[in-house]
Amino acid sequence: MVKIFGIAFKNEVFTASGVFGFGLKYQRISNAVGAVITKGITLKPREGNPPPRIYETPGGLINWVGLENPGVDAFCAHIIPGLAKLKTRVIANVAGFSVNEYIEIVERIGNRVDAFELNVSCPNVKEGGAAFGQDPDIVGRIVAGVRKKTKCPVIVKLTPNFCDPLRVARMCVDKGADGISLINTLYGMAYDTSSGKPLIIGGLSGPAIKPFALYCVNRIRDIGVPIIGMGGIMTGQDAYEFLLAGASAVAVGSAMLRDPEAPIAIIKELESFLRRGKKAGDGRKGLNKA
Ligand SMILES: Cc1cc2nc3c(=O)[nH]c(=O)nc-3n(C[C@H](O)[C@H](O)[C@H](O)COP(=O)(O)O)c2cc1C
Repeated sequence: MVKIFGIAFKNEVFTASGVFGFGLKYQRISNAVGAVITKGITLKPREGNPPPRIYETPGGLINWVGLENPGVDAFCAHIIPGLAKLKTRVIANVAGFSVNEYIEIVERIGNRVDAFELNVSCPNVKEGGAAFGQDPDIVGRIVAGVRKKTKCPVIVKLTPNFCDPLRVARMCVDKGADGISLINTLYGMAYDTSSGKPLIIGGLSGPAIKPFALYCVNRIRDIGVPIIGMGGIMTGQDAYEFLLAGASAVAVGSAMLRDPEAPIAIIKELESFLRRGKKAGDGRKGLNKA
């Protein structure tokens, strides 16, 4: 058992947003992990992007799913009741296309989940189209607004693209965030060489991004709030490295697309690393120990 953001989790391995739906289909897996982080919820329902949505690269994959989801009202009416029956913690991942959308989604969900994760990698459509998360001031406005609408812990999921995660994380903590999760996908693209046109432009994930993700977690390790680390975690050893870098918990993403049971193996393997690490007096900060 670990205690993070004032909440007890059965272990420190979570499912990352977007690779496991709402965790309702494979409840054996949901009930084994410390928390299910839901797929991103937007204000209005979204059908997502046309194919190809996923493209495999040698070290991972590029996705362009486009936040397919039923929208916040359907989430509240039809999905929350199912989530309430899971024997795990539920973290609702929220995606907005304006500052007010984030605030409104969180207000509508209120206190009916265990925590929120704000995905600030979405494009700020009203203010130029760059990701919200690249601008500390805009992220600060989102966090301050959301903070007033819920008593649940608010975690901000940082973008690793074209910004210093430390600057953004500091702003989040100043404005009342309870935790930081990182990293979201890196920008990536692939070409169709027969047509000479881009085949896909989207988010790169998987083993290729792990060294950079570890770097980012280590960069903010002294931020003072718990960190959920992710990016290319395929094994318990990978997960343990993220804990060494300063994370209190980890999330498993792309590995679940290869093997939905991956988190179960990771939990087991991580346990043995933690036992050995404890004996050896590893360098973890222990923010999460209950
Ligand atoms: C198919 C797919 C869909 C994703 N959808 C979301 C999403 O809706 N919201 C979000 O914050 N992150 C989303 N992500 C990012 C992951 O949660 C995670 O941050 C990223 O993939 C890095 O972890 P990984 O290398 O273990 O996959 C998605 C990733 C993939 C591969």
